[in-house]
Amino acid sequence: KYKRQYFMPPTPTYDWVKKEYIDKAPIWCSVDLRDGNQALIEPMSLDEKLEFFQMLVKIGFKEIEVGFPAASETEYNFMRALIERDMIPDDVTVQVLTQAREHIIKRTFEAVKGAKHAVIHLYNSTSVAQREQVFKKSKDEIKKIAVDGAELLQKLANEVEGNFSFEYSPESFSGTEMDYALEVCNAVLDVWKPTQDNKVIINLPATVENAMPHVFATQIEYMHKNLKYRDAVTISVHPHNDRGCGVATAELSVLAGADRIEGTLFGNGERTGNVDIVTLAMNMISHGVDPHLDFSNMPEICEMYERVTRMKVGPRQPYAGDLVFTAFSGSHQDAISKGMACRTESNDETWTVPYLPIDPVDVGRTYDSDVIRINSQSGKGGVSYILKQSYGLALPEKMREEVGYSVKDVSDKEHKELSPAWVYQIFEDKYIND
Ligand code: KIV
Ligand code: ZN
Repeated sequence: KYKRQYFMPPTPTYDWVKKEYIDKAPIWCSVDLRDGNQALIEPMSLDEKLEFFQMLVKIGFKEIEVGFPAASETEYNFMRALIERDMIPDDVTVQVLTQAREHIIKRTFEAVKGAKHAVIHLYNSTSVAQREQVFKKSKDEIKKIAVDGAELLQKLANEVEGNFSFEYSPESFSGTEMDYALEVCNAVLDVWKPTQDNKVIINLPATVENAMPHVFATQIEYMHKNLKYRDAVTISVHPHNDRGCGVATAELSVLAGADRIEGTLFGNGERTGNVDIVTLAMNMISHGVDPHLDFSNMPEICEMYERVTRMKVGPRQPYAGDLVFTAFSGSHQDAISKGMACRTESNDETWTVPYLPIDPVDVGRTYDSDVIRINSQSGKGGVSYILKQSYGLALPEKMREEVGYSVKDVSDKEHKELSPAWVYQIFEDKYIND
């Protein structure tokens, strides 16, 4: 049935598989206000972008791509507003995207004039498909677009008031022959001649995720081992999520030598989205490594995100969805309440409670309303837990099973979840009022 052939990206050799986990936070760059915004049905207004920007700063992002100023008035005005209203904290670097085209680069520099520090992010597309089908240009012609763009950035950065550094992306990198991607990036680096004091960013996108995560990571390792000026270059990755593996792709890329990750909150972005930085950061926390991002108030972040993007955080979104810490089923509830009881007794700092990958409190959630919830799948452990937590009622061991069945029978007949108040009501009607 499925006979179509698809492009298979090249796979260099690799040895990063020996590493087991990420032991240090990468540099994070949020592209919510650019890649995320450009994929919204209704892009954010200037005020909405400002509110999102402030939330990103509060979470702890030190690098934020704020837009594509040459793309629209709102984008341009947003950049101006940040500068003129002096809204960029000293320890935060803003970044703007520009195509490698003269009039777009010039307009971009008008937008960032006076910035205390901005990264100008230059890109052009390098993949076989884009070269042959979209640009109809040779390899040398495509390389020249990048080099000319890099030279113009260099020139304008000296002429325009402000403090600027540079980033280059070979867009569609993962669909590009690796030796050619390296040649183009090295040619750009030869223009910028980065030093330890004047670093530049080479950002390697999986513009469309077209391979398994380890394949992309091998491409990153190849660049990490072969790029010129490596000590003066920050290698960044920019995974999209077309195959649903954006998080794994980013994680393996860091193991393979990447220093920096561009992504968005909850994976908003073109098509299936950019890589989800919330999941990446919380995965690190679950390994005991500090990501230097603060998601301890996830409900507040979700509320802002849903309001200004008009997108939804799905109920099963890792670490953030309404249901991701919830157990309805009896055996899970029983294990969780036993795990929580052991924890209280032992005061052990290591989190080992079954079925809960992290302590929900670490993302601003509560045990009472989020963890044990009662429906027809629940068991005696869950019902006893609710009566104890919400009403201080410690059921004797011998009563638990019977009370559990009484409660879940009601849920089964009504075909509804039962609130703690309803659970108590059932208990009261049968065992107190009777
Ligand atoms: O996905 C992509 O390739 C991009 C580039 C413009 C960096 O967003
Ligand atoms: Zn992108």
